[in-house]
Amino acid sequence: MTDSKPTKDSSIADTAWIRTSKLSRHYVRGPQEVRALDGVDLTISHGEFVAVVGSSGSGKSTLLNLLAGLDTPTEGQIFIAGEELNTFSRKRLSRYRAEQIGMVFQSFNLISHKTAQENVETALYFNETPKSERRKLSREMLSRLGLAERLDHHPADLSGGEQQRVALARALVKNPQILFADEPTGNLDRENTAAISAMLKSFNQNGVTVVMVTHDSELANTCARRIISMDYGKIVTDVATDVDAGGAK
Ligand SMILES: Nc1ncnc2c1ncn2[C@@H]1O[C@H](COP(=O)(O)OP(=O)(O)OP(=O)(O)O)[C@@H](O)[C@H]1O
Ligand SMILES: [Mg+2]
Repeated sequence: MTDSKPTKDSSIADTAWIRTSKLSRHYVRGPQEVRALDGVDLTISHGEFVAVVGSSGSGKSTLLNLLAGLDTPTEGQIFIAGEELNTFSRKRLSRYRAEQIGMVFQSFNLISHKTAQENVETALYFNETPKSERRKLSREMLSRLGLAERLDHHPADLSGGEQQRVALARALVKNPQILFADEPTGNLDRENTAAISAMLKSFNQNGVTVVMVTHDSELANTCARRIISMDYGKIVTDVATDVDAGGAK
């Protein structure tokens, strides 16, 4: 028996795809401090499909924004494949955001002066994808999401559900390793929700790790293999669903 074995903690850091340690994000507003995220320890393996649920204000978007490198923790750390996000150079961070992850924002964040197709194309600017290929891939992705007839519409001329699907197309067109999706079906009807759910499962089956915030417990139960529930900035439950490893119920 030797004591040269790696500690439990360092072995997790080596194998985890996404790991947080005591992750916190506090906001100070005058005398008031909001603990939007309060000491979250979370490990997500490669290829998982995780749903994050919880009441409004419980810290779900805060968590996603931190994991996506769009916000900086007040305390704690985030490791992506063992590398600490906070130590990424500017260049490495832009590469992480542009190439490795896709993000669907709760508020869509589409560029208003660009058409649906142009919005999706922006996701492919980072690499050498030729313009013709960018257009082709963007059209195909929008068509898969039922928007073949809306390619030239600007966000203001699209419904909420259509804008949401453009945002999803923009996140998925680059084939990210990780998809962070904040309420990706929040504005969709049943039929479109089912279509998006099938699409997310299929991306996940092809190896994309999915972390999805949702208020829709049916969606969480039919898509995700693991449901994390948050309250007051903390994880209160973390349970496996009975969705099988293939991602289908
Ligand atoms: N910039 C900010 N300044 C101060 N407080 C903030 C800020 N951003 C978020 N908060 C607070 O942090 C808490 C968590 O917010 P967050 O957006 O993560 O909640 P959420 O779980 O995504 O809620 P919802 O389901 O409504 O989207 C909330 O109480 C919110 O008011
Ligand atoms: Mg939110």
